[in-house]
Amino acid sequence: MKHSAKIYVAGHGGMVGSAILRLLKSEGFYNIVTKKSRELDLRNQSQTNDFFDQEKPEYVFLAAAKVGGIVANSTRQADFIYDNLAIAKNVIYASYKFGAKRLLNLGSSCIYPKLANQPMTENQLLTGLLEPTNEAYAIAKIAAIKLCRYFNEQYGTEFISLMPTNLYGTGDNYNLEKSHVLPALIRKMILGKALQENNFELVKSDILQNPIGWGNSENLDCDDKNEIKTILGRAGIGDDSVYIWGSGSPLREFLHVDDLAAACLHFIQKNNITDLGEFLNIGSASEISIKDLAILIKEIVGYGGKLDFDQSKPDGTPRKLMDSSKANSLGWSASIDLRNGIESVVGGYLRKLDKK
Ligand SMILES: NC(=O)c1ccc[n+]([C@@H]2O[C@H](COP(=O)([O-])OP(=O)(O)OC[C@H]3O[C@@H](n4cnc5c(N)ncnc54)[C@H](OP(=O)(O)O)[C@@H]3O)[C@@H](O)[C@H]2O)c1
Repeated sequence: MKHSAKIYVAGHGGMVGSAILRLLKSEGFYNIVTKKSRELDLRNQSQTNDFFDQEKPEYVFLAAAKVGGIVANSTRQADFIYDNLAIAKNVIYASYKFGAKRLLNLGSSCIYPKLANQPMTENQLLTGLLEPTNEAYAIAKIAAIKLCRYFNEQYGTEFISLMPTNLYGTGDNYNLEKSHVLPALIRKMILGKALQENNFELVKSDILQNPIGWGNSENLDCDDKNEIKTILGRAGIGDDSVYIWGSGSPLREFLHVDDLAAACLHFIQKNNITDLGEFLNIGSASEISIKDLAILIKEIVGYGGKLDFDQSKPDGTPRKLMDSSKANSLGWSASIDLRNGIESVVGGYLRKLDKK
């Protein structure tokens, strides 16, 4: 890919898209086009076609999607399947129609059956029933993989799909109602530590910067310490303990989003891209229990309170690990170790609070 190549990053404002954009810029690519969703709604085929017709990107990173946690996913399945199917079919079709050289489509590990063998290899796709709470999202992601594959087969396009494991890093979602486990633990412990230290300035700055969720902090009187404590308590942050859903025993895999961005840049430039298979798993290959993850974050944040595991809450799948050996054998592997990655995320989070 030449530095002058015209590149479109769809979803550049999101966690994944922004990591791809940062990497492209730092590697010297300068002819990059982006659009916010309010300027270009990728669910709309004619808007998408007009944009591609005008810009004619040569390379497309498809990181635009409707993404959410378990609550949003399970209560708004129609929105999740409709938006993600529409975005994928419009961008993939326009890339074909307006002659993009290559497209890299991003999916997720939820495409695999609920009871997939661990670690999950690429050939386990469509071998069993999906997890019902995110079935709609997963079906849209599977359809996008198949669109890429069949456009390649029928029209000779060069479209590739990557399926990353759980991601964390810059630009993550810290709304405690919607966030994934790792950013939620970081935020809860930062707030728990501030409460213990009576540092209400930091708590105020945090709540003003990121909503806690459930509409709790919208009309908050930031000078009312009792009100703040009540709201934090509802989010599982007590005076001297932080509540964590489930037993802490499930094993999970985490990948820093900058490692994923490196995989995207690596694979979009790979020779014989269509020989790589329908898609590739992208994971760190290292697992950690939720309990050990919480202990690690506690140590990094310097939180002195207790960790209370709420065993009445569901644990989810006991183990979820991707087999990324195929991607590794093709020249990419994760390079950011979990401790270093979390240290840099915590540092970045605190620096942002300081600036307020
Ligand atoms: N986060 C994870 O842990 C994770 C893990 C595995 C895979 N992935 C995959 O990575 C991809 C990106 O995820 P992410 O975490 O970066 O999501 P994100 O932070 O929510 O970003 C999504 C992006 O999509 C854009 N978008 C949404 N609807 C759009 C529309 N109708 N038209 C145009 N743009 C639209 C948003 O644009 P605006 O901001 O302008 O609205 C935003 O920039 C997804 O395919 C996801 O499945 C994520």
